[in-house]
Amino acid sequence: MTVQKATNIKWHQGKITKEDRTKLMKQKGVTIWLTGLSGSGKSTIAVELEHALLENRHQAYILDGDNIRHGLNKNLGFSPEERSENIRRIGEVAKLFTDANIITITAFISPYRQDRDNARKLQKEGEFIEVYVKCPIDVCEQRDTKGLYKKARAGEVKEFTGISAPYEEPSNPELTIDTSKMSIEESTRAILNYLEEKGYVKFSS
Ligand code: ADX
Repeated sequence: MTVQKATNIKWHQGKITKEDRTKLMKQKGVTIWLTGLSGSGKSTIAVELEHALLENRHQAYILDGDNIRHGLNKNLGFSPEERSENIRRIGEVAKLFTDANIITITAFISPYRQDRDNARKLQKEGEFIEVYVKCPIDVCEQRDTKGLYKKARAGEVKEFTGISAPYEEPSNPELTIDTSKMSIEESTRAILNYLEEKGYVKFSS
């Protein structure tokens, strides 16, 4: 656990509650935490999901591993400690977005179960949906959209998830989506259905 370094700080509570925002925005903010191997389809699903939600007049926003590592987390690499710090920061950012009542879609490998569980613990019951974007490594490797599996096999990329670094499967995710069997449309639809069934969003048609 990260230690609290600053002292003499005080929490300031605003006047607006999550319920106020939920009423105003006609949606309930939540974090949709996509986890899975590189090339499993997390970013692609995130993009489709965000688009579908916006088309239905819902506020959604993606926090994507590759993107966040260009800015907020540009000082982090891929050692176990740095991945944990990556996920810790994103867990906190996702909590803020969710509190702002946004449907927050995160797309990070997030290979360690403990780190994902810590991100979940930051949030209230029902505000963290873990989605395991499942795909056999040989299929991810065959896709090799970024050419990184090839580099990892050649030893040019170190500590690569699934090749030379671990991936711990979720033990109890809210949803599992197998992208080797389901299309992007089907995968997106499964998440949208879940959100509607549980009352986070309401679609007009
Ligand atoms: S995480 O493990 O800390 O959650 P994150 O999702 O932020 O990873 O970043 C993963 C992305 O970084 C991959 O999709 C890939 O494009 C790139 N990447 C570069 N080096 C590695 C590596 N050693 N292992 C995994 N992904 C890597």
